[in-house]
Amino acid sequence: MEKIIFVGGKGGVGKTTCAASVALMYSKKNKVLLVSTDPAHSTSDLFNIKIKQKSELYRYSESLDIMEIDGEKEAKLYLTEIKKQCNLMLSPVIMGEIQGQLDRAVSSPGTHESAIFEKINKIITENQSYDYIIFDTAPTGHTLHLINLPKTVNIWMNTLIQKRKKILMLKNMKFEKKDRIEDDKVLNILENRRDNLLKISKILGDPKIVSFYFVMNPEKLSFLETKRGIKSLEEYNIKVDKVIINRVYPDSIDEFWQEQKDNQEKFIEFIGQEFIGKEILIIPYYRKEKKDTLDHIGKIILSENKL
Ligand SMILES: Nc1ncnc2c1ncn2[C@@H]1O[C@H](COP(=O)(O)OP(=O)(O)OP(=O)(O)O)[C@@H](O)[C@H]1O
Ligand SMILES: [Mg+2]
Repeated sequence: MEKIIFVGGKGGVGKTTCAASVALMYSKKNKVLLVSTDPAHSTSDLFNIKIKQKSELYRYSESLDIMEIDGEKEAKLYLTEIKKQCNLMLSPVIMGEIQGQLDRAVSSPGTHESAIFEKINKIITENQSYDYIIFDTAPTGHTLHLINLPKTVNIWMNTLIQKRKKILMLKNMKFEKKDRIEDDKVLNILENRRDNLLKISKILGDPKIVSFYFVMNPEKLSFLETKRGIKSLEEYNIKVDKVIINRVYPDSIDEFWQEQKDNQEKFIEFIGQEFIGKEILIIPYYRKEKKDTLDHIGKIILSENKL
């Protein structure tokens, strides 16, 4: 089984940079897939490439594939699938009533996120040939919250399955029929969906397979968001392995920058006290023109990992 890494954090803290650095570092000796789930894709900008086919694999090097998920395309696919399944389960009258609602749902953010999550599930379950799959997530952090979705939906699915079985049994009794309940199309859809959700739930809940890296900057707002993010993930029993403090100022002789640096240092100390038990990594502020920046960042983040 591959190892899955989610890189999360507030907007602009350096998620894409860190995810790309880790992907490049691992790809030196492993087969890696880097996936951007953020609708405002900057992975291709960072790698200086043009990815024409969104949601498809782009071969960057022999050992590194990149994919930028197209939220709009996924939302449409997702709703088409839902419509197909509703068609089997609901009467034409009800279908007619909800058709418009389903069509409008394409542009709602919740649908995009659910569809992206569905795509993440597919990527994880259908791409077993990679040693590492790294997800660069959207800044809202909602993608991370969706990780808990399979568990919630599973409970709901089980109720639906029981209800459907009851209806089928009653139908058999009422019309004195002996239709095999297991052959029912609707029941099969529900059970398949539940089994897929259970599978993905099991993978996502396994700390041996899934790691979470939270990227932050050493300042108040970023810290508060990180604290909230980690707390809510841990409420879902998802452990955050690494906290990456990015953009730490170098030593400075200038009074203004020295003040900034002193502030950062205080924060870094505070972060260390707050996030006990996690690996905390410090990444310096790099000059933009430095070519080997990603290499340095990757080395810092993976210092303790065997490649
Ligand atoms: N250590 C660093 N030193 C200097 N610049 C950095 C560093 N890390 C990131 N940057 C720069 O900061 C900007 C934001 O970084 P990045 O795109 O990785 O953040 P992000 O968290 O993915 O942002 P978004 O939330 O918009 O997706 C980029 O221009 C990047 O080059
Ligand atoms: Mg980004």
